[in-house]
Amino acid sequence: MFAELERRVAEKRKAGVDVISLGIGDPDRATYPHIVEAMQVAVADPANHRYPNNRGREEFRQAFAAFYDERFAVAIDPESEVIPALGAKECIYNLCFAFLDPGDTALAADPGYPVYTGGPALAGAEATLMPLRPELDFGPELDAIAPEDLERARLLFLNYPNNPTGAVAPDGLFERAVELAREHEILVVHDNAYSETTYDGYVAPSFLATPGAKDVGVEVFSLSKGFNMTGWRCAAILGNPDALATYWRLKTNVDSGMFEALQIAGAAALAGPRGAIDEMNAIYARRRDLLVEALRAIGVDVEPPKGTIYVWAPVPSGHTSVSFAELVLEEAAVVVSPGSMYGPSGEGFFRISLTTPDDRITEAVTRLREHLA
Ligand SMILES: Cc1ncc(COP(=O)(O)O)c(C=O)c1O
Repeated sequence: MFAELERRVAEKRKAGVDVISLGIGDPDRATYPHIVEAMQVAVADPANHRYPNNRGREEFRQAFAAFYDERFAVAIDPESEVIPALGAKECIYNLCFAFLDPGDTALAADPGYPVYTGGPALAGAEATLMPLRPELDFGPELDAIAPEDLERARLLFLNYPNNPTGAVAPDGLFERAVELAREHEILVVHDNAYSETTYDGYVAPSFLATPGAKDVGVEVFSLSKGFNMTGWRCAAILGNPDALATYWRLKTNVDSGMFEALQIAGAAALAGPRGAIDEMNAIYARRRDLLVEALRAIGVDVEPPKGTIYVWAPVPSGHTSVSFAELVLEEAAVVVSPGSMYGPSGEGFFRISLTTPDDRITEAVTRLREHLA
C-alpha cells in the first residue's frame, strides 16, 4: 500500500507536480549547535576512532543517569541500568530476539510503530494486537487481553506520547501495566521516543517513574526526535538490570557498540540547555495549530495532540484511509499517511507529520482549504 503511494508520488513529481510530503516523522531542523560542536571535537580525537566498549562510555551512562534524575525524578544506576542503543528501532528489534521464542507472543498496540509487530515476526514469534480506540484516549484495554494471550506473552510494548495517535499516557495505564506484568511475568518495554516533544504545558513522564516499574520493565529513550538527531542513531535502554543483562548478551553478538564520538555528543545533548527543545516545540505547536485549523475548515473533526510530531485525524465519512490519502494526493498534491498502515485499527484515520518546513506546511494548508473544502 505504501509502495503504491510512493510510486504515485514519484510519478507526479516526474510529471512536474510539486508534491508536499507530510508523511514521514523526520525533524526538518538541524541538530542543536552544542551537540554538533561536541561531535566535531570528539570526532577529531583519534582516541575515539577505535572499537567502542559495548557497555558504553562511563560519561554516556552518567549523562543518562543525570538526565533521568533531573527530568523524570528516576534514579538510574549508571553501571547496571543503562546501555547505549543504536536507535530505538534496533533496540526494539534486538529485544524481540533476546526475549521471544517460537510460540511466544508480544503484546503490541494497534495502530502502532511497525517494529512492535515486525520484530516478533522476524524472531519467529507472534504479536498480539491491542486495539487503541479514541473513546479510551488511545490507551490499550489491558484487561481485555485474552487469558491465553497473556499466558504466551513475554513482552508488552507501550509508547506514550504515542505514534501514530499523538495521545499521551492515559491515567492509570502505566500502573496497570506494572500489575499485569507482575502477574504474568511479562517484560514491559516502554518506547519513550517522544517525551521531549510536548505542547500546552504537558510534561510527559517516564514509565520508570511508576512505582514498581523497574521490577518489571525497561524504557527505550531515543535522542532522534526531541534533539533533531534521527540520522545519528543515538539512544539507550534503561531499567531492570536483569533484562538489560539479557539484552546485552544478545547485543554483543550483533554489533560492536556505539561510536565513541557519538556517545560524547549524546552526553552533551542530554546535559545541554533545554532552550532549543522548547523553541522546537513552539515551532511544532504553531504548525500543529495551522493544520488543525485547516483540517477543521475542510470538515475533519480533529483534536490537537499534546505530544509527538503527528496529527492523527479521522477520515471524512465515505472514505477509507487509503481512498482519502489518494484524494488528498490527487486534489492537493499533499501526502498524508493512511492510518491502516499502522495496523487494522488505524483504518478510518490518517496521520500528518509536523516535520515539514513552515513555508511548505503553509502551502499544504492553503491547498487543503482550496481543493478539499
Ligand atoms: C514510536 C517510535 N519508536 C521508535 C522510533 C525510531 O526511533 P529511532 O530513530 O531512535 O530508531 C520511531 C520513529 O518514528 C517511533 O515513532
